[in-house]
Amino acid sequence: MEEVWPQPSVSVERRPVDEAESRRANGPDWDRYADEYQATHGSFLGDIGFVWGPEGLTEEVAGVLGPLSGRDVLELGSGAGQCSRWVASRGGRAVGLDLSHRQLQHSRRIDEQSGVSVPSVQGTATALPFRDGSFDVVFCSFGALQFVADIDDAVAEAARVLRPGGRFAFSITHPTRWMFPDDPGEGGLVASQPYWDRTPYVEIDDDTGLVAYVEHHRTLGDWVRVLARHRFSLVDLVEPEWPADHDRVWGGWSRTRGLLTPGTAIFSADLPA
Ligand SMILES: C[S@@+](CC[C@H](N)C(=O)[O-])C[C@H]1O[C@@H](n2cnc3c(N)ncnc32)[C@H](O)[C@@H]1O
Repeated sequence: MEEVWPQPSVSVERRPVDEAESRRANGPDWDRYADEYQATHGSFLGDIGFVWGPEGLTEEVAGVLGPLSGRDVLELGSGAGQCSRWVASRGGRAVGLDLSHRQLQHSRRIDEQSGVSVPSVQGTATALPFRDGSFDVVFCSFGALQFVADIDDAVAEAARVLRPGGRFAFSITHPTRWMFPDDPGEGGLVASQPYWDRTPYVEIDDDTGLVAYVEHHRTLGDWVRVLARHRFSLVDLVEPEWPADHDRVWGGWSRTRGLLTPGTAIFSADLPA
């Protein structure tokens, strides 16, 4: 019998939402969604696997993080820890952090099943529970950053916990995708919203009227500027191409759209040595 994961009925809006409300919504939302997320995407992610996004570009191929062996590595929005487990398999000392308790329970489950364990903590990317200069690499694969309102706090925290010369790398929905409806079909190819409209995407619970889920949009220029404000130098902006033999639909990501428009942006940036 096919499993079903009941979710609340929601209405979609664009409206301003602050950090406290984003967190109040997104933590419980990821708790509700975690079982479905892991059942749907777990085999694509791989228990000990590092993909940067729905195009399937792996860190093995992309090499965005640089050398990992013997390095202290923090993953923001680590979910079930698949990426961090891959980092550990390459000799890195990986640590995960995620807002969702249920995602972290999946992380424990996969630790036990795979025999590769990643220590992880519940917390938010905007207030990291680590000392200054604890890590060589901080990364995030579609994790916390697009769920955070106070992006300056999150980037400042990444800079604080990195050692001099440390690398910060993260993947997000490609900012240009915000111009289009979140539709994996032909409808998702027609621009209908201004690229420069930073008003967050919000789902409102129809029963309670409360904000149930939030994503925040920044333009490419916004990302460059927030990195520069926190002393990062941009190393690369990777825009993975859709592979010719790849036909997986993940939310609004699909072959139909992926062959024509970028779906993922991967930034990497270094602190001064
Ligand atoms: C799309 S999932 C990605 C998880 C994992 N990187 C993966 O590839 O499966 C986004 C994750 O970010 C977490 N998250 C959302 N807001 C966060 C925040 N403010 N701080 C830390 N994690 C957050 C969610 O709980 C969720 O596990």
